[in-house]
Amino acid sequence: MAIATRTFASSHRPNLFAEDAQYKLFQDDAFEWLAAAPPVSIHAVVTDPPYGLVEYTSRELNKMKNGKGGVWRIPPSFDGCQRRPLPRFTILKQEDHQALRKFFTRLASSLIRVLVPGGHVFVATNPLVSHLVYEPFVAAGFEKRGEIIRVVHTLRGGDRPKNAHGEFPDISVMPKSCWEPWGLFRKPCEGRVQDNLRKWKTGGLRRLSAEEPFKDLIYSSPARGIERESAPHPSLKPQGFLRQIVRAALPMQQGTILDPFMGSGSTIAAAAACGYSSIGIESNPEYFLLAVKAIPLLAKFEPGECNGNGKKA
Ligand SMILES: C[S@@+](CC[C@H](N)C(=O)[O-])C[C@H]1O[C@@H](n2cnc3c(N)ncnc32)[C@H](O)[C@@H]1O
Repeated sequence: MAIATRTFASSHRPNLFAEDAQYKLFQDDAFEWLAAAPPVSIHAVVTDPPYGLVEYTSRELNKMKNGKGGVWRIPPSFDGCQRRPLPRFTILKQEDHQALRKFFTRLASSLIRVLVPGGHVFVATNPLVSHLVYEPFVAAGFEKRGEIIRVVHTLRGGDRPKNAHGEFPDISVMPKSCWEPWGLFRKPCEGRVQDNLRKWKTGGLRRLSAEEPFKDLIYSSPARGIERESAPHPSLKPQGFLRQIVRAALPMQQGTILDPFMGSGSTIAAAAACGYSSIGIESNPEYFLLAVKAIPLLAKFEPGECNGNGKKA
């Protein structure tokens, strides 16, 4: 795929840009891109935003690469397997919480402007900070339509008190986390759902089949093996899971899905696998180039070829 430099809007600096028949990728700051994008032009958003807000700064990414300090931590190993670094949310302070609330207030108001009426947002979060995401979305005018529970074992939590394991062998500081919440929001419909579906092609969720609706509980292992080799991003989400939510997001299989924080492009790959059009934004040039390479590989996986295939472990 050719990579070009393109100016998206006159006020915009030139950015890397790549496209395929089904998707467009921009190396840009999501907020700048959203401010320049035409209003009422996106049909759904599926995204996994940065959370520590600092974890994707070059300073923290360098610390992770060097394996020293910072927000990224290797979870404790119990079985000799090599663990991947995970960002720590327990170290977030009061001012970090305020910064998160501000970030999601800005994101929600930017998204409601570009979405068509009835457009859904699926936003990845975690049990410690989900309230800092959900409240700003509701305040911006979105309707909360539910929460998708991704059942996944992430190795977070469940530890005994630090440096006092022996003294308190029967105590965990917090539960071991076994699920990941994804907030589900909708921009209000224009009139009834049926009117909105006719006019905007949005407002509902695509069913699994005539007999089976889309459901809010999805079993999914973390991305591993060939999938991770194809897209070595520290926060890679598995195709098996993403394809299920992306598929539901365009009820009439028409329109465009946006991921403003695409990382390795896993949402865009899931959209391509579902035959949907999509747009991905990523500010980090290294991850942008990773996405350009990884998307065609991830999109080609057959369901079940990779881990995290949505089946109960
Ligand atoms: C949690 S990761 C997404 C990973 C993705 N789900 C995947 O499977 O690869 C969030 C991404 O947002 C990017 N990012 C952070 N701030 C951004 C911004 N203001 N605009 C666009 N991208 C941003 C980070 O570089 C990071 O790659």
